[in-house]
Amino acid sequence: MIPADALTRLKSARSIAVLTGAGVSAESGVATFRDPDGIWARFSPTELASMDGFMANPQRVLDWYAHRRAVVDAVEPNAGHTALVALERWITQRDGTFTLITQNVDRLHQRAGSRNVLEVHGNLVEDRCSVCEEIHKGEQQLDAAGLPVCTTCGGRLRPNVVWFGEDLPRDVWDASERAARDADVFMSIGTSSVVWPAAGLAHTARSRGAAIIEVNPTSTDLTPDVTWHIPAPSGTALPLIVAALEAA
Ligand code: APR
Repeated sequence: MIPADALTRLKSARSIAVLTGAGVSAESGVATFRDPDGIWARFSPTELASMDGFMANPQRVLDWYAHRRAVVDAVEPNAGHTALVALERWITQRDGTFTLITQNVDRLHQRAGSRNVLEVHGNLVEDRCSVCEEIHKGEQQLDAAGLPVCTTCGGRLRPNVVWFGEDLPRDVWDASERAARDADVFMSIGTSSVVWPAAGLAHTARSRGAAIIEVNPTSTDLTPDVTWHIPAPSGTALPLIVAALEAA
């Protein structure tokens, strides 16, 4: 299942960058966005994942993100998350570098033990003030309408995730681009590669000579440009990759 020359390339890599998407969390029981039974087949991204949607009906958006938090709190990281922790350990033990860039907001990578995680789309566990941008964790001050507001400036709190049409966190994005530029191997795992600018990272890596490994049961927009496409679930393919590297 794992091409031998892909393993050879990984064994000689000094720097590995990984981009994950919702597919990595699918085997934990967290719905993806664009699979047939995905989130966007059931909910409207403009109503629930945009500032306009939030301003139009903040309670509906806050309730939806509370639901997503509850879903994620009830699941565990899967073998794919755990394998990425082992891959980070494997290359750092050889004085190589490993950067995990994720589009996921569920923090399952961190719960599995991944350390150097770049959350390009934010996370579900924090709220951010829509006025002064202060980050809030858990503490709640409610306005007259019963909606959470910032304890510093009174501005309305919103989930600390990147909504459609919003900029990615600058420092996180810059670090992600640097990792893609410096990578000997770039792994695109569990993402449909349709949401930019995250989908551009693999192309940045490729333009600098990196080998691109895609792990996804289906083909994506990126597949024509990858070095190897491994048509398998991440919870199957990633443990096999790590086992082969550790056995070498
Ligand atoms: N292992 C690997 N890949 C899988 C698995 C699995 N077990 N199950 C599904 N996939 C793949 C699907 O084939 C699909 O290509 O995961 C991909 C999930 O794609 P999307 O649902 O589009 O999720 P993602 O690519 O993360 O979306 C990017 O879009 O809505 C926004 O902000 C949201 O971060 C998200 C961004």
